[in-house]
Amino acid sequence: PGDLHDRLAALVHDVPDYPQPGVTFKDITPLLADAQAFALTVEHLVERADTPIDLVVGMEARGFILGAPVAVGLGAGFVPVRKEGKLPRATLSGAYDLEYGSAVLEVHPDTIPDGSRILVVDDVLATGGTAAATVELLESAGGVVVGLAFLMELTALGGRARLAGRELDVLLSY
Ligand code: PRP
Ligand code: MG
Repeated sequence: PGDLHDRLAALVHDVPDYPQPGVTFKDITPLLADAQAFALTVEHLVERADTPIDLVVGMEARGFILGAPVAVGLGAGFVPVRKEGKLPRATLSGAYDLEYGSAVLEVHPDTIPDGSRILVVDDVLATGGTAAATVELLESAGGVVVGLAFLMELTALGGRARLAGRELDVLLSY
């Protein structure tokens, strides 16, 4: 696990002053482009899940990248939580505050059977706004969020506190 951590961490690149001055962006694209690191990341998230999982939910856009292969690995379905206006049928929606603004997330509630055991997957836990809004949306649609998994947590932004009482799996903490 220590080795895995170091190997993955070496592939997360710091980008100073992005998207605004004073902010250092953690870019995971080098990790995703590394076949072994990407596979190890997915494998880790699959192994740590509280099975059985019926559905994996990923949040647009970066949550799709990790969520979809984790769903396949778990033998679960995949449900996208999308930004406003992207889903074609009846949606449930919830507003949320983001690190750099605010927005609306939506889901097709009929893709979530009542009582479905759901794992939420995203790349980064920052303020927790995205994840907290997603949990609220999924539970109002009748799902049961049994855990949330992130490649990375930015601890200074306090997202963990907004998910108090939830099962969290984080590979890298900064
Ligand atoms: C980023 C990241 C997480 C979220 C974390 O997504 O992918 O989803 O921010 O921030 P939070 O914990 O403060 O909510 P973003 O909305 O920037 O867009 P993207 O995934 O489409 O790139
Ligand atoms: Mg995102």
